[in-house]
Amino acid sequence: MCDVRVRTGARRSEAEAAPALPHRFRLLLDANLALSTERDLDTLLRRFTDIACELTSSRYGALFVEDIGTLVTFVTHGMTQEQADLIGEPPSRTGLHGQLLREGRTVVINNLLDDPRTTGYPPFHPVMRTFLGTPIRVGSRVVGELYLADKNGGVGFDESDVEIVEALAAAAAVAYRNATVVRMEQQSAARAWALLDMHGRGQIDEALFWSQVWAREEERARLAREIHDEQGQLLTSIILFAKHLEQAVNPGTVAQVTELRQLAERALRAARSLAQQLRPMELDEVGLVPAIHRLADHVAQIGGLAVDVVAGAPSVELIYPVEVVIYRIAQEALTNVARHAKAHVASVTVNARDGWLTLVIEDDGIGFDARSVLDSRTDGHLGVRTMRERAGSVGGELVVESRPGAGTLVRLRVPAGERPAALSDQFSAATPP
Ligand SMILES: Nc1ncnc2c1ncn2[C@@H]1O[C@H](COP(=O)(O)OP(=O)(O)OP(=O)(O)O)[C@@H](O)[C@H]1O
Ligand SMILES: [Mg+2]
Repeated sequence: MCDVRVRTGARRSEAEAAPALPHRFRLLLDANLALSTERDLDTLLRRFTDIACELTSSRYGALFVEDIGTLVTFVTHGMTQEQADLIGEPPSRTGLHGQLLREGRTVVINNLLDDPRTTGYPPFHPVMRTFLGTPIRVGSRVVGELYLADKNGGVGFDESDVEIVEALAAAAAVAYRNATVVRMEQQSAARAWALLDMHGRGQIDEALFWSQVWAREEERARLAREIHDEQGQLLTSIILFAKHLEQAVNPGTVAQVTELRQLAERALRAARSLAQQLRPMELDEVGLVPAIHRLADHVAQIGGLAVDVVAGAPSVELIYPVEVVIYRIAQEALTNVARHAKAHVASVTVNARDGWLTLVIEDDGIGFDARSVLDSRTDGHLGVRTMRERAGSVGGELVVESRPGAGTLVRLRVPAGERPAALSDQFSAATPP
């Protein structure tokens, strides 16, 4: 039998039964704890692999992570280091593993010997029968794989094994991302010092300005990560555990467990939305221009108007804090169009020239008294003034041209490429993941 994505588990005999729930729960909590306390990536990923094997009663397990074709980590469980060294590299990107990495989906196989994707084993590799492999993804990128083989007693992997291994692969992705961020922060600090050494006094002020801009964005990114990843992982584990409990507890307590699960699900949604406010995930996932297209599509949909976007990939280098400002201003200006303008048509234009990037958002709606909104200090409407402050925070400027009955034009100019060369070259367009 082959190519089976087992979603319904075979009933297990007493002897084959997985460890009792509380123990499994403790192991999952262990994994969560390790995520926030263990700083060494190899040790952490080895721990996850061990826990995955223990939770699913698997004899063998392995995990590898690659960064643009370069192997970052490869850990194994169930064989000695000598055996692992003899086998050498992680599996190639052909056959079963290639398919898994390309398609980015979990694969469960009940008999590897019959499976046409099995392309044979390298020398010294043990022969294996049952298999569960899942991708490790950061955003939309598959960066590695966590896979297990030979579940105890020869039975196939089941639904709960898949859930557990997918949760651990998600935690492994978080660990990898955190390690990358730490490395980038160290590089940023080193570059800032190098910059101060390199440039004369005149540029030091500018360098300090950009360092502060950068530091503020990194702090927001760090907070967003902690909320999204660490809290998110913990809540996900609680939800997973509650789902198991819902099936195991007696009917009298099911309702309470369900309520617990729903509360955890609400807390998870709240955590994700807070993280999103701190740091726009779309920028990480698709980049600035596609993210602006998404905003425009969304506004067209909710505002019932046509929104044209004219924006090629910017030919200038943008540092991440500047990208965030452009994105946030596009978001606020477009939201205002949808909420207030009663427009039929709006347009978004992004242009880069002479070291400046210009974003223009225009609508043919009812317009408003822009001057009084910008000058007013008292009412609760903050969007337009915040846009102007954001522009200033990265050395840019924002102009709002509008009159009642005459539509609205928001123009943002921010330094890009040449202008903040003191830092844009040094920090490049690198985005903290
Ligand atoms: N594109 C637009 N077309 C028409 N009126 C607009 C437009 N943009 C802003 N306005 C007017 O300017 C006011 C202030 O906008 P601002 O974005 O500062 O606050 P808000 O959208 O009301 O609230 P928030 O603080 O949530 O953004 C709006 O209430 C609206 O009357
Ligand atoms: Mg607004």
